[in-house]
Amino acid sequence: MNILVIGSGGREHALCWKIKQSPKVKKLYCAPGNGGIAQMAECVPIPADDIEGLLKFAFSKKIDLTVVGPEASLIKGIADAFVQKGLKIFGPSKEAAQLEGSKVFAKEFLCRRNIPTAVYKVFDAANNALDFLNKAQFPLVVKADGIAAGKGVYICQNLKEARVAIEDIMVQKIFGNAGDKIVIEECLSGQEASVLAICDGKHFFVLPSAQDHKRIFDDDLGPNTGGMGAYSPAPAVTPKLLDTIITRVIEPAIRGMYQEGVPFRGVLYAGLMFTQDGPFVLEFNARFGDPETQSILPRLKSDLVEVMLAACDGRLNELKVQWDPRFCVCVVLTSGGYPGEYRNGFEITGLADVNDEDTIVFHAGTKNDGGTIVTAGGRVLGVTSLGNNLEKAISKAYEAVDKIHFEHMFFRRDIGQKALGLVKSKD
Ligand code: AMP
Ligand code: GLY
Repeated sequence: MNILVIGSGGREHALCWKIKQSPKVKKLYCAPGNGGIAQMAECVPIPADDIEGLLKFAFSKKIDLTVVGPEASLIKGIADAFVQKGLKIFGPSKEAAQLEGSKVFAKEFLCRRNIPTAVYKVFDAANNALDFLNKAQFPLVVKADGIAAGKGVYICQNLKEARVAIEDIMVQKIFGNAGDKIVIEECLSGQEASVLAICDGKHFFVLPSAQDHKRIFDDDLGPNTGGMGAYSPAPAVTPKLLDTIITRVIEPAIRGMYQEGVPFRGVLYAGLMFTQDGPFVLEFNARFGDPETQSILPRLKSDLVEVMLAACDGRLNELKVQWDPRFCVCVVLTSGGYPGEYRNGFEITGLADVNDEDTIVFHAGTKNDGGTIVTAGGRVLGVTSLGNNLEKAISKAYEAVDKIHFEHMFFRRDIGQKALGLVKSKD
């Protein structure tokens, strides 16, 4: 088969790495890809959201299956465009991707289907939202309706912070149209983890739990990022809790979308908080998480291409998927300054020194500059290791990290440490 992966991050490198292992694959393309992906797939310089360009390419290369990484392409309707032309694509329709594309859509759906989520209100005018704040209790959470590269959520401790959030989102429009509406919701507290399900519209199976680290600094300090590291499984998600998540969240969500005529095909990613009243949905994403995927796919023993084909054809119920029981940890190396300003173009050294068979270095913001791999983005690499226990996986990943260097390289030293505390307290 000829397969096309869309996107250019660490997630897409992990997808390409796993897809490439399938005996079904004859030729693998990635648009636009990165310096690491180029070592295993033919990279084509078509932007991930150029639907027309990608369609043309898929026809010209007789692509049998297209796999979409980033949300923006899905929300723009890439799956609908491919399906209309009779092409197989793994990813939800534009309407189903609204679960990620619009917080208002997601919250209304959650309430309609009686799936636990924070109490909320929607506003489409700044003055009404500001009036509401005068009677509100703090802390509370202000969220831009549309996608905002993971930056559209403000946890507000007081009136002043909430006013700033509304000013940023609705008046200054720092996220553009994504701020036409906002959701203001109750602030929940508890442990967080993500549970992802692969769905064919009707059937689904859950992937092992994973947890990312959103803040830039150790101990979850500093501004939010795309994700500084991840581990899988997440010890916070006990088998009993996973059962509850499936019956209270995943299953009713898939059934709800199906019954409402918007079947969800692709990856449904539930961002959850485990409150005293059980798991609550913080957000849905309509795609694989980044860097969660880097810590999940190395644990998949089955053929990912078979899984994706079954999802496209509505026969996931026929599939039995096998997992590696080991822990997997991904440490993200970033360009100093990220998530703010940073510089690109620094040579990355030491990649060839990483030769442990349980370690994979996934590339994100890298490019091949005349034979030298150089930095080309905020999140640069995802150093990922498998280990028989969490402690081993963590130490192997950091051993590999210590071999890699580029100027102004920055990373967190505490990936997985909180989970290690949980594992130890269970021992
Ligand atoms: P989201 O993009 O909706 O997942 O939000 C990003 C982060 O904001 C989450 O991972 C949580 O840490 C936090 N968050 C979102 N909603 C809430 C909430 N209702 N209460 C507390 N924290 C929240
Ligand atoms: N790691 C969070 C996300 O992919 O949205």
